[in-house]
Amino acid sequence: MFKNLRLFLPLLKGHYKKYIIASLALLVVDIIDVSLPLLTGLAFDSMINGISGKIGAAEAVQRLGLIVLVYFAGILVQGFLRYWWRYLYHSASLLVANNIRNKFFGHLQKLSMNFFHNARTGDIMSRATNDVEWVKMFMGEGAIIIVDICFYFIMVPFIMFSKSPSLTLYIILSCAFIPFFVRSTSKRLHAKSAEVQESMSGISQSAEENFSGVRVVKSFAQEANQLDRFRATNEVYLQKNLSLAKLSSYFHPFLGFNVGLSAFIILLAGGLQVIDGKLTPGDVVAFMQLLGRIAWPMVGLGISITIYQRASASLERLTQIFNVQPEVKDQGANLVPETNDLEVEFRNVNFSHKIPELSQDGIPQQDKFKTTQVLKNINLKIPANSVVAITGPIGSGKTTLLNLLVRFYDGDSGEIMINGINIKNYSVKNLRSMMGLVPQDVFLFSDTIRDNIAFGLDDPTTDEKISNTAESVVMREAIDSLPQKYGAYLGERGVNLSGGQRQRVSLARALIKNPPLLILDDCFSAVDFETERTILRNIIANKSQSQTVLVVSHRLAVMSMADFIVFVDKGEIVEQGTHAELIAKNNAYARFCEYQNIKEQLEGD
Ligand SMILES: Nc1ncnc2c1ncn2[C@@H]1O[C@H](COP(=O)(O)OP(=O)(O)OP(=O)(O)O)[C@@H](O)[C@H]1O
Ligand SMILES: [Mg+2]
Repeated sequence: MFKNLRLFLPLLKGHYKKYIIASLALLVVDIIDVSLPLLTGLAFDSMINGISGKIGAAEAVQRLGLIVLVYFAGILVQGFLRYWWRYLYHSASLLVANNIRNKFFGHLQKLSMNFFHNARTGDIMSRATNDVEWVKMFMGEGAIIIVDICFYFIMVPFIMFSKSPSLTLYIILSCAFIPFFVRSTSKRLHAKSAEVQESMSGISQSAEENFSGVRVVKSFAQEANQLDRFRATNEVYLQKNLSLAKLSSYFHPFLGFNVGLSAFIILLAGGLQVIDGKLTPGDVVAFMQLLGRIAWPMVGLGISITIYQRASASLERLTQIFNVQPEVKDQGANLVPETNDLEVEFRNVNFSHKIPELSQDGIPQQDKFKTTQVLKNINLKIPANSVVAITGPIGSGKTTLLNLLVRFYDGDSGEIMINGINIKNYSVKNLRSMMGLVPQDVFLFSDTIRDNIAFGLDDPTTDEKISNTAESVVMREAIDSLPQKYGAYLGERGVNLSGGQRQRVSLARALIKNPPLLILDDCFSAVDFETERTILRNIIANKSQSQTVLVVSHRLAVMSMADFIVFVDKGEIVEQGTHAELIAKNNAYARFCEYQNIKEQLEGD
C-alpha cells in the first residue's frame, strides 16, 4: 500500500524547514491538548476535595486558581501555534502544487506533436487539475492528519494506561473498528460523489447544447422534447444526490454513537472504579475528555489512508506524463543559420505515422504502435528566396511534408537540410524561429485581434506595423469597422470572425514576423478567389529579398504565381517544374489543373 510513498519524497525538497517547524508546533499543541483533560480532572478533584473538607477551602481555591491559570496559558499558546502550523502546512502544500502545475505545463510544452495527437485533452486536463489537487491534499491536510494522529496515538493511550489499564483496554476495543468503518464509508462516499459530479456535468452539457443549439431546437420545434430530456437528466442527478445524502447522513450519527458507547463504558466501569477507590472522580472526568482525543486519531487514520491512496494514484498518473519523453529534441549542435537566404533540401526522406496503442489510462505508449507510411523517397530542392507551390490530391501528404520541415515529427530515414546543414543540427527553437507557419487548421486565441497577430513576436510591436500587416491580408477595413478595432476580443464573449477572416488573421500572425521561410498550408481555402489573388500579390510584392515561400494550395492562381510547382500524390513527388513546363508535359499535374479549373469555374459562378 505504501510503495508509492517514495514518490512523494522529492516533493518535499525545498520545504523541509516548513514541514519540520510546522510539525514541532503541532507537537506542542498536541502535548497541551492531551494535558488539558488532566488539568480538568485535577480541577474537579480540588473542587470535590474542597467540598468534602479533605483540604481547606482556601487551599482548594488556591489550587483551582493555579490550575485555571495554567489552563488559560495552555489554550493561549495553542491558539497561537495552531495558526502557525496550519499556515505552514497549507502554504507548503500550495507551493508543492504550484510547482507541480508549472512543471507539468512546462513538460507538456516540450512534448512532441505525436503525444498531443493521441492523448485526450480531457484526460490531460483532469491530471493537471484533479490529480494535482489530490497531491496537494495529501501534502497539506493529509500530512497534518498523519503527524497529528501519530502524536495522539503515542501520548493518549500512554496517559490513559498510567491511570487505568483496564479502562484503557475497554475504550480502545470499543473504538478499534472506527478506522475500518471510516475507510470503507469514505471510499463509498467518494465513489458516490464522483457519480454526482458526473451527472452534474451531464446536466451542464445538456443545458449548454440546448443553448448553443437553440436555432436548431426552435426551428425543429423540439422545445418540449428537449425539456423532457433535461428532466430525465435532472432526475438522475437528484437520485444520485439523494443516495449520497443517505450515506453521508448515517456516517456522523454512527461515529457519534460509537463515541457515545465508549463514554457509556467510562461512566459505568470508571464510576465503579471510583467507588472502589481505584480512581478519583477527576480521573473519570479526564478519561471522558481524553475519549475525544483517542476517537479522533481513529477517525483520522481512516481518513489519512483514503487521502494517501487517492494522492498516490494521482501522483502515479502525473508521473506517467512526466515519463513521456519528447520525440523531437535538440541534438546538441544547436547551430544558428549564418544567413536569411534559406535553401531547403529534402534528401530521400521517408516518413511513417506511428499510431501508438493507448495504455489503460489513455496514455499513448511509447513502445507499442502501428505504422503507416505517408511519405516515400522525397527528394526536393527549394532554392533560396523562391516561391514554391506544393499541390496534390487530398491526403497525399502535403501537410506532412511541411510538418517534417518544422520538425513536428522527424523523418524515419533521409535528411532535411537547410543551407546544407541537417535541420536536426539547429536547435528546435532556432529552427522554428526561422519559420512562419500558417497551419491548415486555423487556431486563434481568445484574445484581442492585436495580440493574436503579434503572438509570435518576442518584442513589442507598433500599431502601424499591425495595421499594415492587416492591410496586406485585406483585413484592415473589416477590423476598422469593429467598435474596438484591434482591441476586439475574439472568441465566445467577443467578436466572431467569419472563417475566411480567421484564416487571414492567422496569416497575418505569420507575415508580421517576416520570417526567412514562410510556410503557408492551404490557408486560403475559405477566402474568395479575388481576395486570395490580392493577398498573394501583396505577399510576393512585400516579400523581402531574403524570404523563401512555400505554399500548399489547390488553387490555380497560386500555381501560376509560383516559381515552381511540386506535385505530390500518395506520398510521393510525382512531378516538379514550372507551371508551363508541367502543363506542357500533359501528365498528372495537367490533369489536376484541368479538374481544378472546372471546379473553380463552378465555384466562381
Ligand atoms: N496524426 C496522424 N496519424 C496518422 N495518420 C495521419 C496523421 N496525420 C495525417 N495522417 C495521414 O497521412 C496522410 C497524409 O496526410 P496530410 O495531412 O499530409 O495530407 P494533405 O496532403 O495535407 O491533405 P489535405 O489536402 O487534405 O490537407 C493521410 O492519409 C492522413 O490520413
Ligand atoms: Mg494538408
